[in-house]
Amino acid sequence: MLLAMAPKMFFKIKHNNLTSLLGLFLYVFGVASAQLSPDFYNATCPGALPAIENVVRDAVANESRMGASLLRLQFHDCFVNGCDGSVLLDDTPTMKGEKTAPPNNDSLRGFDVIDRIKAEVESLCPGVVSCADIITIAARDSVVALGGPYWTVLLGRRDSTIANFSGTIDIPSPFLNLSGLISAFANKGLSASDLVTLNGAHTVGQTRCTIFRSRIYTEDNIDPSYAASLRAICPASGGDDNLAPLDTETPTVFDNDIYQDMMMEKGILHSDQQFYSGGSTDLQVEGYSDDSEAFAVDFGDAMIKMANISPLIGTSGQIRLNCRKVN
Ligand code: HEM
Ligand SMILES: *[C@@H]1O[C@H](CO)[C@@H](O)[C@H](O)[C@H]1NC(C)=O
Ligand SMILES: *[C@@H]1O[C@H](CO)[C@@H](O)[C@H](O)[C@H]1NC(C)=O
Ligand SMILES: *[C@@H]1O[C@H](CO)[C@@H](O)[C@H](O)[C@H]1NC(C)=O
Ligand SMILES: *[C@@H]1O[C@H](CO)[C@@H](O)[C@H](O)[C@H]1NC(C)=O
Ligand SMILES: *[C@@H]1O[C@H](CO)[C@@H](O)[C@H](O)[C@H]1NC(C)=O
Repeated sequence: MLLAMAPKMFFKIKHNNLTSLLGLFLYVFGVASAQLSPDFYNATCPGALPAIENVVRDAVANESRMGASLLRLQFHDCFVNGCDGSVLLDDTPTMKGEKTAPPNNDSLRGFDVIDRIKAEVESLCPGVVSCADIITIAARDSVVALGGPYWTVLLGRRDSTIANFSGTIDIPSPFLNLSGLISAFANKGLSASDLVTLNGAHTVGQTRCTIFRSRIYTEDNIDPSYAASLRAICPASGGDDNLAPLDTETPTVFDNDIYQDMMMEKGILHSDQQFYSGGSTDLQVEGYSDDSEAFAVDFGDAMIKMANISPLIGTSGQIRLNCRKVN
């Protein structure tokens, strides 16, 4: 009996040693995602993921642009102090939130949907599911609701107790050149290839005239009839908040045709066109333009990578009860 168990025990010990060695390695090299797991809420809130999916599906069915807005929230959360839900905090008399910072003011949307999700999961399991995790799940569910790929979200992030208004400088401006865009992503541990992949998110959603005006009036690497059609929406002065789709053909479907747009000089943002302007990323754009499957797979992988930027884990931060304010 004892003899028969011995090999099993030996294996078990060896396995544990290997596991802790791997843990140590990941800890030493600062790979916090080692602590995130797809099963994080299996025991503590098994209903969370289906509940979030339901609210997202309803919100997108009511207004398809909401899927784009929720997807963008992950980017604007993760690029400022990591994926910690800081973007969701409202201003207080003593702390300025990130919502009115230049990249977000009059632009970021979806906060009410996040509130609805939070209310739902709080009623299922109070104080368990973080706002930071809700953002990453809602981003994935939004892409799926718009016909895009599914990926497995890693969970276990906790919420910040501070916002960082000036930290929004880390979110790249749409007026940057390719090299500036690449540096902004490199600052967050993301490659030029991740950048080209993640910018594919612009296959859905809208942008304001004030953002694309200089491109349609002053730039010459733009399809002339496309520029003319945009000038009808966006006058040389006034109409700052008039909207145009980021993707010319299918702004409510998550697909790969924005890469075709770039190849036809129909990127609406200065930054979108940078990825196809005779530089190092042209080949990747061409590749995605005729391989929707490669784009779909890479997009999920890159979203997971972005969602791993400096999460708060263990006992850091808190689980906010209301995503808009610190407990
Ligand atoms: C290269 C870096 C990026 C730049 C410079 C950039 C810039 C912008 C700008 C200027 C807008 C329009 C804002 C407005 O007019 O109010 C926008 C919209 C959007 N961005 Fe990005 N973005 C970048 C990367 C990303 C990434 C990584 C994602 C997500 C993975 C993303 C998702 C979106 C979505 C979905 C919208 C539409 C939102 C809506 O309709 O509510 N963007 N982006
Ligand atoms: C956690 O739950 C998901 C969804 O129900 C399931 O697919 C997965 O196998 C579970 N994982 C564990 C470790 O129980
Ligand atoms: C549905 O979408 C409209 C905008 O199209 C918005 O005003 C309204 O609040 C949304 N309703 C719900 C329940 O999300
Ligand atoms: C945000 O936008 C509002 C309305 O357009 C404007 O009044 C306000 O000054 C802006 N806030 C900041 C911090 O720029
Ligand atoms: C805010 O973000 C900036 C830019 O990344 C960073 O240097 C600074 O340390 C952050 N501040 C806080 C309080 O986290
Ligand atoms: C980059 O952008 C600046 C304006 O911000 C422009 O003057 C410069 O020519 C651009 N450089 C390249 C290589 O496109």
